[in-house]
Amino acid sequence: MCRIAGNLQKHFEADEDRKRDMTEQRKAARDLWGGHFATGPAPLMEQINASIGFDKRLWPHDIVGSKAHATMLAGQGIISEADRDAILEGLDEIAREIEAGSFTFDPALEDIHLNIESRLTEKIGEPGRRLHTARSRNDQVATDFKLFVRASIDRAIDLLEHLTDTILDIADQHAATVMPGFTHLQAAQPVTFGHHLMAYAEMVVRDRSRFADARLRLNECPLGAAALAGTSFPIDRHATASALGFDRPAANSIDAVSDRDFALDYLASAAITAVHLSRLAEELVLWSTPQFGFVTMAEDFTSGSSIMPQKRNPDAAELVRGKSGRVLGHSQALLVTMKGLPLAYSKDMQEDKEGVFDAVDTLELCLRATTAMLASMRVDPARMRAAAGVGFTTATDLADWLVRVKGAPFRDAHGIAARAVKAAEERACDLHELDEAVLQAIDPRLDGAVRRLLRVEASVASRTSHGGTSPERVREAITAMRERLAALEPGR
Ligand code: ARG
Repeated sequence: MCRIAGNLQKHFEADEDRKRDMTEQRKAARDLWGGHFATGPAPLMEQINASIGFDKRLWPHDIVGSKAHATMLAGQGIISEADRDAILEGLDEIAREIEAGSFTFDPALEDIHLNIESRLTEKIGEPGRRLHTARSRNDQVATDFKLFVRASIDRAIDLLEHLTDTILDIADQHAATVMPGFTHLQAAQPVTFGHHLMAYAEMVVRDRSRFADARLRLNECPLGAAALAGTSFPIDRHATASALGFDRPAANSIDAVSDRDFALDYLASAAITAVHLSRLAEELVLWSTPQFGFVTMAEDFTSGSSIMPQKRNPDAAELVRGKSGRVLGHSQALLVTMKGLPLAYSKDMQEDKEGVFDAVDTLELCLRATTAMLASMRVDPARMRAAAGVGFTTATDLADWLVRVKGAPFRDAHGIAARAVKAAEERACDLHELDEAVLQAIDPRLDGAVRRLLRVEASVASRTSHGGTSPERVREAITAMRERLAALEPGR
């Protein structure tokens, strides 16, 4: 132990060269911690420590957060109005510099908060050095990140609404289009394409409500929690909370700086949405094969093959399916990062951002691509109709008819229907094409009248139970969902 400590000591002592190389910027960074650091960070420390490479993306939120803070400080008499005005003006100029691409992000200044604060001081001098009164980067980063996640939630909700509208329109056009319904990916019973699509509409509406729910929980402002304990300055946390569009200040200063539930909520909602998009994408991949031929993806969402001229690959759908893995991974990664952390802030939490950024970008891209793919695909009702009858998908209708009309117990009816399937198989015909004599031989209760019900159209028309696949129920479901969505508060 002692030997190791001694070696380390020697290592630091031998590091004089590095100290001499310390750039002006590093000195500036060191100055931010005040007097008790004799040297700047080792280059490797800078590399592992700096988050500016990715958190620069938070800049608009950092600026509005600082403006709200400075305004409140002046309102409470903690800084002068002249200082406030200089700060606000300086921050606006910095925003313009960043937008114009003329701002230099410096890794020696670690993160977006120090980069902006240091530039502010460079521009306006002493008032810039007063901005950090009564706050810490711990409440600052929590606030910035919450603002980023909140804006991302709002965009996810908009994109989900757009996707829902698109699904509703296609479902409406195909409320009576018959296709095979599957279980175990085996043809099970005929359904309508509109009904199948409405299953996805239900999922997407749940996704939307999950994001809306996450937004409600997120909307408490961490600013003013300072490092962890609150502050001795007479700040007004309600003022900053309301200036930044939060419902209220976060109630507990320790929770405010150590909580990343809002990011986990976003990621969990995004992960479930990504799973839904992936399942839909998987169906598009299947349906667009020549074997199914239910849909044709628009050319601009497919690619050809360099050696097989006949191919049209559903790349966009495959990528929506593939990219879901990233979103699921980011959700898991942040849970694992957080799980061992004592209260309050630990630097581990800097790892919260890249995964969320990538999840946001990936989810938004996948939502846009899915909506566009659906809106531009061509549906082939004739292929769906033809496939709907393959595999004796109306056998259940025959059994149900025996129960309903002839009073047969369902288990008996099931056996009789199975024999009818076997007879049709032997004759290579559909159930509704079986001769009356054949039906009678199977069971005397089977008269010719049943054949009318064994067509796939009759089958779907008979599924009129609440939530069932009959065209009239599907049209009602579409209307009900449209009304439900219209009644929601715009955006939220
Ligand atoms: N870059 C840091 C992060 O993203 C900001 C907060 C740093 N706080 C601190 N006490 N070192 O988490």
